Amino acid sequence: MIQQSVKVLWNKKLSTACYKIGLTCSDHYSSAKPGQFVMLGFAGQTDPLLHRPFSIHNLLISNGSAHGFELLYKVVGIATASLAARKAGDSVEIFGPLGTGFLIPSRAKRVFVVAGGIGVAPLVFLVSDFHRKKVDLSNYRVFIGGRTKEDLLCCQEFLDLGVSVQTTTDDGSAGDQCLVTHPVETAIGQTAPDAIVACGPMDMLTCVVGIAEKHRVPCQVSIETMMACGMGACLGCAVESRTEGEQYLHACMDGPVFPADALKF
Ligand SMILES: Cc1cc2nc3c(=O)[nH]c(=O)nc-3n(C[C@H](O)[C@H](O)[C@H](O)COP(=O)(O)OP(=O)(O)OC[C@H]3O[C@@H](n4cnc5c(N)ncnc54)[C@H](O)[C@@H]3O)c2cc1C
Ligand code: FES
Repeated sequence: MIQQSVKVLWNKKLSTACYKIGLTCSDHYSSAKPGQFVMLGFAGQTDPLLHRPFSIHNLLISNGSAHGFELLYKVVGIATASLAARKAGDSVEIFGPLGTGFLIPSRAKRVFVVAGGIGVAPLVFLVSDFHRKKVDLSNYRVFIGGRTKEDLLCCQEFLDLGVSVQTTTDDGSAGDQCLVTHPVETAIGQTAPDAIVACGPMDMLTCVVGIAEKHRVPCQVSIETMMACGMGACLGCAVESRTEGEQYLHACMDGPVFPADALKF
């Protein structure tokens, strides 16, 4: 993990509130794992003072090594609004890659990938990474849910990787009008997958974990907590553990990706 000042390559608006930004990086990001994140800040700015966590959305690779990476982000406050105002050539500060990544055993052939809203961000990196490593993705299924069709991001990226995508919205403006966990439950009832990975709001993750446990399918989740330091110093990201003798885990160091049975939901 190193701290560096990096350049904005481009910053594209995808919907009313969501953007995708490309940033330069040193080639040690070549070994970044899907699920890992960076802490991003603005040198010389006092507001926001603290860096903010963002999942690596994908690596920009040339000649086998990473020269940049992408973040997918939603504007919700001061830091994300500041980021949206950045133009090509501007600088931002990052340190990373941080935290744990997804671990899908090679014997897992049939995998369900479940995304809620901006939670799709690290899952594109996961599926792209397997695609680059020539993993057979024919039995992967992606489920993406959002409040409205504006929240359904990255469907085309998954389709371009040859993976089927099922979408849902709360308001019926695209896909099926239901929660994303409904088609997951239906599909699991037909043929259980070997693994489920999920990222999204806590309510969605709680429901996905419940379905996975009911059907005894191993599940990994990437969780979002408030993070002030990103490296184990502030203890602000503590989450309750299910492991006996271990009351709390830290999302920044022990996560953000956890086996579902490690956490209390
Ligand atoms: C490991 C990790 C990966 C993340 N990856 C992404 C990503 O890829 N794309 C993305 O858009 N966002 C991601 N987030 C969330 C992102 O860090 C926050 O949206 C961001 O910090 C908000 O900063 P802000 O100054 O714009 O908003 P603030 O003014 O700080 O907050 C605005 C609102 O968002 C809530 N909020 C802020 N941070 C968090 C958080 N970490 N978890 C839950 N609620 C929060 C606040 O309570 C407040 O209601 C990630 C968070 C974590 C922990
Ligand atoms: S964010 Fe500071 S300890 Fe995890």
